[in-house]
Amino acid sequence: MSQEMINVETHGRVGLITINRPKAMNALNDQVMDEIGAALDAFEADENIGAIVITGSEKAFAAGADIGAMASFSYMDAYKGDYISRNWERVKTCRKPVIAAVAGFALGGGCELAMMCDFIIAADSAKFGQPEVKLGILPGAGGTQRLPRVVPLEMATNMIVSGTPIKSEKFKGTKLFDEIVEGDVVQAAVAFARKAVSDKLGLPKVRDLKIEHEDAEAFLQFSLNTVRTVAKNFPAPAACVQAIQAAVKLPFEQGLKRERELFLHLVQTPESRALRHAFFGERAASKVPDVPADTPLRKIESAAVIGAGTMGGGIAMNFANAGIPVRLLEMKQEALDRGLATIRKNYENSAKKGRMTMDDVEKRMSLITPTLSYDDIGQADIVIEAVFEDMAVKEQVFRKLDEVMKPGAILATNTSTLDVNKIASFTKRPQDVIGTHFFSPANVMKLLEIVRGEKTAKDVLATTLALAKRIRKTGVVSGVCDGFIGNRMIEQYSRQAGYMVEEGASPQQVDKAIEKFGFAMGPFRMSDLAGNDVGWYIRKRRYVERPDMKYPKIADKICELGRFGQKTGAGFYRYEAGKRDAIPDPVVDKLIEDHRKELGITPRKLSDDEIVHRLVFALVNEGAKILEEGIASKASDIDMIYLTGYGFPLHRGGPMLYADTYGLYNVVNRMKDFAANPHGDPSFWEPAPLLAKLAAEGKGFNG
Ligand SMILES: NC(=O)c1ccc[n+]([C@@H]2O[C@H](COP(=O)([O-])OP(=O)(O)OC[C@H]3O[C@@H](n4cnc5c(N)ncnc54)[C@H](O)[C@@H]3O)[C@@H](O)[C@H]2O)c1
Repeated sequence: MSQEMINVETHGRVGLITINRPKAMNALNDQVMDEIGAALDAFEADENIGAIVITGSEKAFAAGADIGAMASFSYMDAYKGDYISRNWERVKTCRKPVIAAVAGFALGGGCELAMMCDFIIAADSAKFGQPEVKLGILPGAGGTQRLPRVVPLEMATNMIVSGTPIKSEKFKGTKLFDEIVEGDVVQAAVAFARKAVSDKLGLPKVRDLKIEHEDAEAFLQFSLNTVRTVAKNFPAPAACVQAIQAAVKLPFEQGLKRERELFLHLVQTPESRALRHAFFGERAASKVPDVPADTPLRKIESAAVIGAGTMGGGIAMNFANAGIPVRLLEMKQEALDRGLATIRKNYENSAKKGRMTMDDVEKRMSLITPTLSYDDIGQADIVIEAVFEDMAVKEQVFRKLDEVMKPGAILATNTSTLDVNKIASFTKRPQDVIGTHFFSPANVMKLLEIVRGEKTAKDVLATTLALAKRIRKTGVVSGVCDGFIGNRMIEQYSRQAGYMVEEGASPQQVDKAIEKFGFAMGPFRMSDLAGNDVGWYIRKRRYVERPDMKYPKIADKICELGRFGQKTGAGFYRYEAGKRDAIPDPVVDKLIEDHRKELGITPRKLSDDEIVHRLVFALVNEGAKILEEGIASKASDIDMIYLTGYGFPLHRGGPMLYADTYGLYNVVNRMKDFAANPHGDPSFWEPAPLLAKLAAEGKGFNG
């Protein structure tokens, strides 16, 4: 058998197998395991070999099973029940001692492979972990049965339920490994192997070890109750505990069987599908179809931000947090002082909460240099404009930036609604202009919507995507259109929310229904938080630009009363001074009642199910249009935007994955029902051509 993923050599009587997939952090897949199996066969048959060492690299023994392979393996494969086990048996059945030499990460399948070996020699820098729970599954190759036998039960349970990797030194005194070494772990393992042969150490069996705990059953029952409460939307943490319960109660082989059953169940849950979708979606977002992965990046070692308001301050903090010096420019000293004071207060609050030291606060503040002069920013590698949302002001700023910025600098705008192509046209270098749409608060929110203008250069896009990672954001690319991906979709969602209130639901019923579905905040509470005037301003523009489009008018009436939300103490709810609790308000009830009368609507009761699906399918239909127009290059990009920027519930994987799980055929049928509603807007529910086509073909947005 050819060896593409491992290297094999001999050191006297010791056979050495080195997993060699550096780009994949030595992730294990069928081929790696087959090659290891074949090498073990050969060593076992070779009478000159007395023991075998399996190792990886300095960075990773093996950082898990290949999740790419897991994503593509079908449920039918899982049902065969041999997805993992067939390849792994070989290590366990080898009749000569097998020693794992572990440096770097031994995660997931890597940790399980190490535990299957007869001995483990660990580097002091090694890290062991079972992170499967983060993908909604559990260790499926014996991890839940072996780990509690070699480390204390509490520790094993924590590791498996949290997924957090732990450094070697924390395992001192446990039975996880046989030696911990500071130097070359392979050399130490080869020496150990020689000793295993000369001293005839035999083959110890983890399976024969007892789980030691004074009351394991009570402890695990307590753990099960706790994780069920904490991880209520996700079944995997509880299943992890159930697998460990099996390790305590059942003989080893039966425990393995139980682990497998639980694994096969979890892998098919929508929650696991959602977590895997988000995991791959995050990685896929940084890949743009027509931008090659090896596109040379522009160097970003310094930055500038124009405008020290709500967004500018937060954006500057992102750079300082990543250790990138940033100049912050304002027109007036007072605005600059105010902006800096807010930044300092934010950092000091973090320090008070113990998230950083006062030293860190000073270090970060020292990376932010305030200025009133464009002369100070010309040498920055990137400048991000965050001034008022007004094209005339943007024009003035971009003309000035074109004058002062060095050649090759990236000129970015944080606009949330304006045309990035038009902004680019104010410069003589539209190829260097890009949109970087941060979400508020910009220092906290994960999402960065990266708006690719018609003329944006590929290396500018690639550099901005790489920068997003550096400042710990999820960068997702959007084409230019009104509202980009996120806000263009949310507008349809808000329209539906308004229609449902006109038809008979109260704002609190709408909010509660979608919050129960898992959204962080319903549309009306959200609007009160963001400021109802923001949407009002956009709608007024729409009434002029798109007179054909219908809008429910409740939100306008709320605004006409000056009820802009939390900031004015009243919106769709009322708020007590200094508090954020949304309290239903009879004034709003009356306003809604009058409005319905005006429209001649007899209110009806809407079910929570109707509310949820009208809101979510409003997103889905607009998402389908966005995909079709090429504004988003893939459905998972839309989902990443909704998961990281709009509070869409993670366990449902984003609107497009939710629609796939619901079945697009069923989505279209529901939309037909919604269109038949006499007070609805039938044109609203006209399925986007892409949605209709995929539904007819029995396909999904994600394949
Ligand atoms: N607030 C949000 O939630 C949010 C979210 C995403 C994007 N945005 C966008 O970010 C931009 C800024 O919004 P904001 O909420 O931070 O506004 P803001 O009013 O809080 O801040 C704007 C700042 O820009 C300064 N400024 C105005 N003209 C300037 C000029 N010519 N030169 C230098 N400074 C100037 C102002 O003094 C002010 O401090 C807008 O384009 C907005 O659409 C806002």
